[in-house]
Amino acid sequence: MEDITRMLEEAGSRVCPMKWEQGVYYLLDQRLLPFEEEWLPCRTVRDCLAAIRDMVVRGAPAIGITAAFGMVLAVRQALEEGKDVPEFATVSGEGLKQARPTAVNLRWAVDRMAEAISSSHGNPLAEAEELAVSIWKQDVQANIQIGKFGGALLPDRGGVLTHCNAGALATGGYGTALGVVRGGLSLGKEFSVFADETRPWLQGARLTVWELMADNIPVFLNVDNASGFLMRTGRVNAVVVGADRIAANGDVANKIGTYNVAVMARENGIPFYVAAPVSTLDIYTHSGEEIPIEERNPDEIIMFGRMRIAPEDTQAVNPVFDITPWEYVTAIITEKGVLKPPYEPAIARAVS
Ligand code: MRU
Repeated sequence: MEDITRMLEEAGSRVCPMKWEQGVYYLLDQRLLPFEEEWLPCRTVRDCLAAIRDMVVRGAPAIGITAAFGMVLAVRQALEEGKDVPEFATVSGEGLKQARPTAVNLRWAVDRMAEAISSSHGNPLAEAEELAVSIWKQDVQANIQIGKFGGALLPDRGGVLTHCNAGALATGGYGTALGVVRGGLSLGKEFSVFADETRPWLQGARLTVWELMADNIPVFLNVDNASGFLMRTGRVNAVVVGADRIAANGDVANKIGTYNVAVMARENGIPFYVAAPVSTLDIYTHSGEEIPIEERNPDEIIMFGRMRIAPEDTQAVNPVFDITPWEYVTAIITEKGVLKPPYEPAIARAVS
């Protein structure tokens, strides 16, 4: 863990949404930010599952890391209760995978952990812990590298728009889309960030603005519907977003509203970049049509906090991700390099 803290400090990013201390996994409760900074302890795999499902932790890579530590806690529980370790870990892993279906990093992390646990012949708890820490560390290293590749693509000045929060809070630290922002600024570029507020959970308003301000990065908050106007009037010159899953053909699943932003970017001749680690590339899913899109409780949009904003008995639909077809994506920035169309061969090479 000290390694990770040091890497983040050296990279100039202070925010990290998780910690692992004496066998307890702690999450910065993202439902409470920016008003309260409260760490929620996860002592069992069920705690990790609930934290993922209930949005204590969110963002594809951060969910994957949390699932990895959930698997460590499952191994410990199996040992304590005299259960078959691989069997209990596999069942727990299947439960974790259902918690949020769109983010492929969750499946990726659980499968890696389950395989290591099943093939362990020594100390499964120590081995699982070592792998979970290394999944976390590799994510931070990947983000810093993504920042280096992507930072070079951003404009020297003007505005860079982002949607949702694909920052330190959504990852093991540093961030993907916001990693690119950090990478660009560390090259001496002088752009400002425009943060879509991102209804209904307001990840942009609550989280992106908070973490950028924590690192003294200039940021303006805007309502989601302003992004087209900001592009058309020249205040936004590039877009960078994260991804929950990228299909083999380059179609991108990301927070609902990303597709609208991509269409607006193309209409206005502005580059639309997607930043994601290789663990977000899903070569087993051919196109975006096959990606499961999570739908959450309609109350998330009928209510604003505790206040009802629509009539009683309103029927509402609440898909929380959308698919941006690959044709709208200028480049996919990964830790292995910047992928350009045609994406199918570029993605296949990146994962090999
Ligand atoms: O519902 P969320 O907050 O988990 O959605 C998060 C996103 O859509 C992010 O953009 C994505 O997971 C990439 S995070 C590096």
